[in-house]
Amino acid sequence: MKLLHIENLSVEFPTHKGPVTVLDKVSLRMERGEVLGIVGESGSGKSMLALAIMGLLAPNASLKADYLSLNNQDLMKLTEEQRKLFVAQNASIIFQEPQTSMNPCFTIGRQLMETIELHGIRRPKKQKQRARELLDAVGINEPELRLKQYPHQLSGGMNQRVMIAMAIAAEPKLLIADEPTTALDVTIQSQIIELLLELNRSREMGLMLITHDFALMSESTQRVCVMYSGQIMENAPTESILENPRHPYSRALLDSIPHIGERHHMGQRLYSLKGTIPAIDHLPVGCRLGPRCPKAAKECVKPPRLEKIDQHGLVRCHFPLEKENQSEGSSQ
Ligand SMILES: Nc1ncnc2c1ncn2[C@@H]1O[C@H](COP(=O)(O)OP(=O)(O)O)[C@@H](O)[C@H]1O
Ligand SMILES: [Mg+2]
Repeated sequence: MKLLHIENLSVEFPTHKGPVTVLDKVSLRMERGEVLGIVGESGSGKSMLALAIMGLLAPNASLKADYLSLNNQDLMKLTEEQRKLFVAQNASIIFQEPQTSMNPCFTIGRQLMETIELHGIRRPKKQKQRARELLDAVGINEPELRLKQYPHQLSGGMNQRVMIAMAIAAEPKLLIADEPTTALDVTIQSQIIELLLELNRSREMGLMLITHDFALMSESTQRVCVMYSGQIMENAPTESILENPRHPYSRALLDSIPHIGERHHMGQRLYSLKGTIPAIDHLPVGCRLGPRCPKAAKECVKPPRLEKIDQHGLVRCHFPLEKENQSEGSSQ
Protein backbone atom coordinates (compact mmCIF):
# COMPACT_ATOMS: atom_id res chain seq x y z
CA MET A 1 0.00 0.00 0.00
CA LYS A 2 1.28 3.49 -0.82
CA LEU A 3 2.40 5.59 2.10
CA LEU A 4 3.41 8.58 0.08
CA HIS A 5 2.75 9.35 -3.56
CA ILE A 6 4.00 12.56 -5.13
CA GLU A 7 3.58 13.47 -8.79
CA ASN A 8 5.21 16.60 -10.18
CA LEU A 9 5.50 18.61 -7.03
CA SER A 10 6.92 22.08 -7.65
CA VAL A 11 7.59 24.85 -5.17
CA GLU A 12 8.26 28.46 -6.08
CA PHE A 13 9.29 31.46 -4.03
CA PRO A 14 8.86 35.05 -5.11
CA THR A 15 12.10 37.03 -4.99
CA HIS A 16 12.90 40.58 -6.05
CA LYS A 17 14.36 39.15 -9.27
CA GLY A 18 11.19 37.14 -9.97
CA PRO A 19 10.02 33.70 -8.89
CA VAL A 20 12.59 30.97 -8.22
CA THR A 21 11.71 27.29 -8.51
CA VAL A 22 13.27 25.49 -5.55
CA LEU A 23 11.56 22.17 -6.36
CA ASP A 24 11.00 21.26 -9.99
CA LYS A 25 8.43 18.53 -10.71
CA VAL A 26 9.52 16.12 -8.02
CA SER A 27 7.86 12.70 -8.20
CA LEU A 28 8.37 9.81 -5.81
CA ARG A 29 6.57 7.04 -4.00
CA MET A 30 7.06 5.31 -0.70
CA GLU A 31 5.51 2.04 0.36
CA ARG A 32 4.36 1.54 3.95
CA GLY A 33 7.29 0.83 6.24
CA GLU A 34 9.87 1.67 3.58
CA VAL A 35 13.12 3.51 4.32
CA LEU A 36 13.76 6.02 1.56
CA GLY A 37 16.92 8.09 1.40
CA ILE A 38 16.98 11.59 -0.06
CA VAL A 39 20.53 12.55 -0.76
CA GLY A 40 22.22 15.53 -2.37
CA GLU A 41 24.54 18.42 -1.69
CA SER A 42 23.50 21.26 0.52
CA GLY A 43 21.09 23.54 -1.37
CA SER A 44 19.63 20.80 -3.56
CA GLY A 45 16.10 21.17 -2.16
CA LYS A 46 15.94 18.31 0.33
CA SER A 47 14.53 20.36 3.19
CA MET A 48 12.06 22.11 0.88
CA LEU A 49 10.73 18.71 -0.14
CA ALA A 50 10.31 17.71 3.52
CA LEU A 51 8.56 20.96 4.40
CA ALA A 52 6.32 20.74 1.34
CA ILE A 53 5.15 17.25 2.32
CA MET A 54 4.51 18.38 5.89
CA GLY A 55 2.68 21.54 4.81
CA LEU A 56 5.25 23.65 6.62
CA LEU A 57 6.46 25.87 3.80
CA ALA A 58 6.63 29.61 4.42
CA PRO A 59 3.34 31.34 3.51
CA ASN A 60 4.89 33.11 0.50
CA ALA A 61 5.84 29.79 -1.12
CA SER A 62 3.57 28.47 -3.83
CA LEU A 63 3.14 24.74 -4.12
CA LYS A 64 1.78 22.89 -7.14
CA ALA A 65 1.40 19.17 -7.61
CA ASP A 66 -0.42 16.87 -9.99
CA TYR A 67 -0.92 14.52 -7.07
CA LEU A 68 0.16 14.43 -3.43
CA SER A 69 -1.15 11.71 -1.19
CA LEU A 70 -0.22 10.49 2.26
CA ASN A 71 -1.57 7.21 3.58
CA ASN A 72 -3.90 7.07 0.57
CA GLN A 73 -5.43 10.47 1.33
CA ASP A 74 -5.22 13.00 -1.49
CA LEU A 75 -3.87 16.05 0.38
CA MET A 76 -4.65 18.46 -2.45
CA LYS A 77 -8.36 17.78 -1.96
CA LEU A 78 -8.36 18.86 1.68
CA THR A 79 -8.82 22.35 3.02
CA GLU A 80 -5.80 23.93 4.72
CA GLU A 81 -7.24 23.07 8.13
CA GLN A 82 -8.15 19.47 7.27
CA ARG A 83 -4.76 18.95 5.72
CA LYS A 84 -2.92 20.18 8.80
CA LEU A 85 -4.87 17.83 11.01
CA PHE A 86 -4.45 14.87 8.70
CA VAL A 87 -0.71 15.40 8.29
CA ALA A 88 -0.23 15.85 12.05
CA GLN A 89 -1.95 12.51 12.63
CA ASN A 90 -0.04 10.64 9.97
CA ALA A 91 3.43 12.14 9.63
CA SER A 92 6.12 13.81 11.73
CA ILE A 93 9.41 15.49 11.06
CA ILE A 94 12.62 15.86 13.02
CA PHE A 95 15.34 18.34 12.18
CA GLN A 96 19.09 18.63 12.41
CA GLU A 97 19.28 20.77 15.55
CA PRO A 98 17.04 19.32 18.24
CA GLN A 99 17.63 22.31 20.51
CA THR A 100 16.20 24.78 18.02
CA SER A 101 12.90 22.86 17.94
CA MET A 102 12.58 22.79 21.71
CA ASN A 103 11.71 25.53 24.13
CA PRO A 104 14.72 26.10 26.43
CA CYS A 105 12.46 27.45 29.20
CA PHE A 106 10.31 24.34 29.63
CA THR A 107 11.20 20.94 31.01
CA ILE A 108 11.38 17.90 28.75
CA GLY A 109 8.33 16.56 30.60
CA ARG A 110 6.21 19.63 29.94
CA GLN A 111 7.13 19.70 26.25
CA LEU A 112 6.48 16.02 25.80
CA MET A 113 3.18 16.22 27.66
CA GLU A 114 2.06 19.19 25.56
CA THR A 115 2.70 17.18 22.42
CA ILE A 116 0.85 14.22 23.89
CA GLU A 117 -2.09 16.48 24.75
CA LEU A 118 -2.23 17.71 21.16
CA HIS A 119 -2.78 14.13 20.16
CA GLY A 120 -5.83 13.82 22.34
CA ILE A 121 -4.73 12.56 25.76
CA ARG A 122 -6.21 15.03 28.26
CA ARG A 123 -5.60 13.60 31.74
CA PRO A 124 -2.20 14.70 33.14
CA LYS A 125 -1.66 11.32 34.76
CA LYS A 126 -2.19 9.53 31.45
CA GLN A 127 0.01 12.08 29.70
CA LYS A 128 2.84 11.40 32.11
CA GLN A 129 2.50 7.69 31.72
CA ARG A 130 2.60 8.08 27.93
CA ALA A 131 5.65 10.37 28.24
CA ARG A 132 7.48 7.66 30.21
CA GLU A 133 6.54 5.06 27.59
CA LEU A 134 7.81 7.28 24.80
CA LEU A 135 11.12 7.95 26.56
CA ASP A 136 11.48 4.23 27.01
CA ALA A 137 10.76 3.65 23.31
CA VAL A 138 13.62 5.97 22.33
CA GLY A 139 16.08 4.38 24.73
CA ILE A 140 16.17 7.04 27.43
CA ASN A 141 16.48 5.61 30.90
CA GLU A 142 15.71 7.28 34.22
CA PRO A 143 12.53 8.80 32.73
CA GLU A 144 11.48 10.44 35.99
CA LEU A 145 14.70 12.42 36.15
CA ARG A 146 14.67 13.29 32.45
CA LEU A 147 11.11 14.57 32.55
CA LYS A 148 12.18 17.18 35.11
CA GLN A 149 15.23 18.34 33.17
CA TYR A 150 15.60 21.20 30.69
CA PRO A 151 17.00 20.77 27.15
CA HIS A 152 20.35 22.38 28.07
CA GLN A 153 20.88 19.73 30.74
CA LEU A 154 20.84 16.96 28.13
CA SER A 155 23.45 16.08 25.51
CA GLY A 156 22.77 16.68 21.82
CA GLY A 157 22.14 12.98 21.24
CA MET A 158 19.76 12.79 24.20
CA ASN A 159 17.83 15.86 22.97
CA GLN A 160 17.53 14.26 19.55
CA ARG A 161 16.06 11.18 21.27
CA VAL A 162 13.54 13.44 23.01
CA MET A 163 12.64 15.01 19.65
CA ILE A 164 12.11 11.54 18.24
CA ALA A 165 9.91 10.69 21.24
CA MET A 166 7.77 13.74 20.46
CA ALA A 167 7.71 12.85 16.78
CA ILE A 168 6.37 9.35 17.40
CA ALA A 169 3.80 10.45 19.99
CA ALA A 170 0.99 10.23 17.45
CA GLU A 171 2.24 6.90 16.08
CA PRO A 172 2.87 8.40 12.63
CA LYS A 173 3.07 6.16 9.59
CA LEU A 174 5.74 8.43 8.12
CA LEU A 175 8.70 10.00 9.88
CA ILE A 176 10.80 12.47 7.93
CA ALA A 177 14.25 12.85 9.43
CA ASP A 178 15.96 15.90 7.92
CA GLU A 179 19.70 15.51 8.53
CA PRO A 180 18.92 14.09 11.98
CA THR A 181 22.53 13.40 12.89
CA THR A 182 24.52 16.09 11.12
CA ALA A 183 25.01 18.07 14.33
CA LEU A 184 26.05 15.04 16.39
CA ASP A 185 29.30 13.18 17.08
CA VAL A 186 29.98 10.21 14.85
CA THR A 187 29.36 7.55 17.51
CA ILE A 188 26.10 9.20 18.55
CA GLN A 189 25.11 9.51 14.89
CA SER A 190 25.03 5.77 14.42
CA GLN A 191 23.06 5.26 17.64
CA ILE A 192 20.39 7.69 16.45
CA ILE A 193 20.21 6.03 13.03
CA GLU A 194 19.94 2.65 14.75
CA LEU A 195 17.08 3.98 16.86
CA LEU A 196 15.25 5.33 13.80
CA LEU A 197 15.65 2.02 12.01
CA GLU A 198 14.47 0.13 15.07
CA LEU A 199 11.34 2.30 15.26
CA ASN A 200 10.84 1.81 11.54
CA ARG A 201 10.87 -1.96 11.98
CA SER A 202 8.90 -2.24 15.20
CA ARG A 203 6.15 0.24 14.25
CA GLU A 204 5.97 -0.23 10.50
CA MET A 205 6.76 3.47 10.32
CA GLY A 206 8.04 4.61 6.94
CA LEU A 207 11.22 6.62 7.25
CA MET A 208 12.37 9.31 4.86
CA LEU A 209 16.00 9.83 5.73
CA ILE A 210 17.36 13.07 4.34
CA THR A 211 21.09 13.48 4.32
CA HIS A 212 24.01 14.92 2.39
CA ASP A 213 26.02 11.92 3.58
CA PHE A 214 25.95 9.16 0.99
CA ALA A 215 27.73 6.75 3.34
CA LEU A 216 25.09 7.07 6.02
CA MET A 217 22.31 6.67 3.49
CA SER A 218 23.92 3.64 1.91
CA GLU A 219 23.83 1.68 5.13
CA SER A 220 20.26 2.40 6.16
CA THR A 221 17.91 2.78 3.20
CA GLN A 222 16.16 0.52 0.71
CA ARG A 223 15.80 3.10 -2.00
CA VAL A 224 17.40 6.43 -2.77
CA CYS A 225 16.41 9.61 -4.54
CA VAL A 226 19.43 11.65 -5.54
CA MET A 227 18.56 15.33 -5.66
CA TYR A 228 20.36 18.17 -7.36
CA SER A 229 19.27 21.74 -7.78
CA GLY A 230 15.62 21.07 -6.96
CA GLN A 231 15.26 18.00 -9.17
CA ILE A 232 15.48 14.27 -8.69
CA MET A 233 18.40 13.06 -10.79
CA GLU A 234 18.17 9.36 -10.01
CA ASN A 235 15.72 7.20 -8.12
CA ALA A 236 16.75 3.58 -7.62
CA PRO A 237 17.16 0.80 -5.07
CA THR A 238 20.09 1.60 -2.77
CA GLU A 239 21.93 -1.56 -3.73
CA SER A 240 21.81 -0.78 -7.42
CA ILE A 241 22.92 2.83 -6.92
CA LEU A 242 25.89 1.57 -4.91
CA GLU A 243 26.79 -1.06 -7.49
CA ASN A 244 25.92 0.89 -10.58
CA PRO A 245 25.03 4.54 -10.26
CA ARG A 246 23.57 5.53 -13.63
CA HIS A 247 23.65 9.32 -13.23
CA PRO A 248 27.06 11.07 -13.33
CA TYR A 249 26.00 13.04 -10.25
CA SER A 250 25.20 9.89 -8.26
CA ARG A 251 28.56 8.52 -9.33
CA ALA A 252 30.34 11.66 -8.16
CA LEU A 253 28.60 11.53 -4.77
CA LEU A 254 29.48 7.89 -4.41
CA ASP A 255 33.06 8.42 -5.42
CA SER A 256 33.44 11.11 -2.83
CA ILE A 257 33.38 8.42 -0.15
CA PRO A 258 36.55 6.41 -0.69
CA HIS A 259 35.83 3.55 1.68
CA ILE A 260 32.58 2.67 -0.03
CA GLY A 261 34.27 3.11 -3.40
CA GLU A 262 36.88 0.59 -2.33
CA ARG A 263 34.33 -1.87 -1.06
CA HIS A 264 32.65 -1.74 -4.43
CA HIS A 265 35.91 -1.68 -6.39
CA MET A 266 35.43 1.81 -7.66
CA GLY A 267 38.40 3.31 -5.87
CA GLN A 268 40.49 3.94 -8.96
CA ARG A 269 37.69 5.90 -10.70
CA LEU A 270 37.63 8.56 -8.01
CA TYR A 271 36.82 12.04 -9.18
CA SER A 272 34.83 14.89 -7.85
CA LEU A 273 32.83 17.46 -9.72
CA LYS A 274 34.28 20.82 -10.61
CA GLY A 275 32.54 23.92 -9.35
CA THR A 276 29.60 24.15 -6.99
CA ILE A 277 25.85 23.76 -7.06
CA PRO A 278 24.34 26.64 -9.09
CA ALA A 279 22.37 29.38 -7.38
CA ILE A 280 18.68 28.64 -7.76
CA ASP A 281 18.10 32.00 -9.50
CA HIS A 282 20.97 31.34 -11.91
CA LEU A 283 20.38 27.90 -13.30
CA PRO A 284 22.20 26.65 -16.37
CA VAL A 285 20.21 26.08 -19.55
CA GLY A 286 19.20 22.45 -20.02
CA CYS A 287 20.59 19.89 -17.63
CA ARG A 288 21.25 21.56 -14.30
CA LEU A 289 24.39 19.51 -13.76
CA GLY A 290 25.69 20.44 -17.22
CA PRO A 291 28.50 22.88 -16.37
CA ARG A 292 29.90 20.47 -13.77
CA CYS A 293 29.34 17.21 -15.57
CA PRO A 294 32.25 15.18 -16.97
CA LYS A 295 29.88 13.66 -19.53
CA ALA A 296 28.29 16.88 -20.76
CA ALA A 297 27.76 17.19 -24.52
CA LYS A 298 25.86 19.60 -26.73
CA GLU A 299 22.59 17.65 -26.34
CA CYS A 300 22.65 18.56 -22.65
CA VAL A 301 21.37 22.06 -23.38
CA LYS A 302 18.01 20.29 -23.72
CA PRO A 303 16.63 19.58 -20.24
CA PRO A 304 16.64 15.82 -19.67
CA ARG A 305 13.56 14.14 -18.25
CA LEU A 306 13.48 11.67 -15.38
CA GLU A 307 12.96 8.42 -17.25
CA LYS A 308 12.88 4.74 -16.54
CA ILE A 309 16.25 3.17 -17.21
CA ASP A 310 15.62 -0.38 -16.09
CA GLN A 311 13.07 -2.36 -14.15
CA HIS A 312 13.61 -0.47 -10.90
CA GLY A 313 15.40 2.76 -11.60
CA LEU A 314 14.80 6.22 -13.06
CA VAL A 315 17.47 8.59 -14.32
CA ARG A 316 17.46 12.19 -15.56
CA CYS A 317 20.33 12.16 -18.04
CA HIS A 318 20.83 12.10 -21.81
CA PHE A 319 23.95 9.96 -21.35
CA PRO A 320 23.39 7.65 -18.40
CA LEU A 321 26.38 5.63 -17.28
CA GLU A 322 26.57 2.08 -18.56
CA LYS A 323 25.71 -0.86 -16.38
CA GLU A 324 29.08 -2.21 -15.29
CA ASN A 325 28.45 -5.32 -13.32
CA GLN A 326 26.32 -7.69 -15.36
CA SER A 327 26.72 -10.59 -12.92
CA GLU A 328 24.73 -8.73 -10.29
CA GLY A 329 21.18 -10.20 -10.52
CA SER A 330 20.47 -8.04 -13.55
CA SER A 331 18.36 -10.57 -15.43
CA GLN A 332 14.64 -9.90 -16.08
N1 LIG B 1 12.50 31.56 1.38
C1 LIG B 1 13.21 31.24 0.31
N2 LIG B 1 13.16 32.00 -0.80
C2 LIG B 1 13.87 31.68 -1.90
N3 LIG B 1 14.68 30.62 -1.98
C3 LIG B 1 14.80 29.83 -0.91
C4 LIG B 1 14.07 30.07 0.29
N4 LIG B 1 14.40 29.11 1.19
C5 LIG B 1 15.27 28.28 0.56
N5 LIG B 1 15.52 28.70 -0.69
C6 LIG B 1 16.40 28.07 -1.67
O1 LIG B 1 15.92 26.76 -1.89
C7 LIG B 1 16.99 25.90 -2.28
C8 LIG B 1 16.90 24.59 -1.58
O2 LIG B 1 17.12 24.75 -0.21
P1 LIG B 1 17.03 23.53 0.83
O3 LIG B 1 15.79 22.75 0.58
O4 LIG B 1 17.19 24.13 2.18
O5 LIG B 1 18.30 22.66 0.45
P2 LIG B 1 18.94 21.42 1.24
O6 LIG B 1 18.04 21.05 2.37
O7 LIG B 1 19.08 20.35 0.20
O8 LIG B 1 20.28 21.89 1.71
C9 LIG B 1 18.27 26.67 -1.97
O9 LIG B 1 18.82 27.09 -3.19
C10 LIG B 1 17.81 27.85 -1.16
O10 LIG B 1 18.61 28.96 -1.42
MG1 LIG C 1 18.43 20.95 4.40
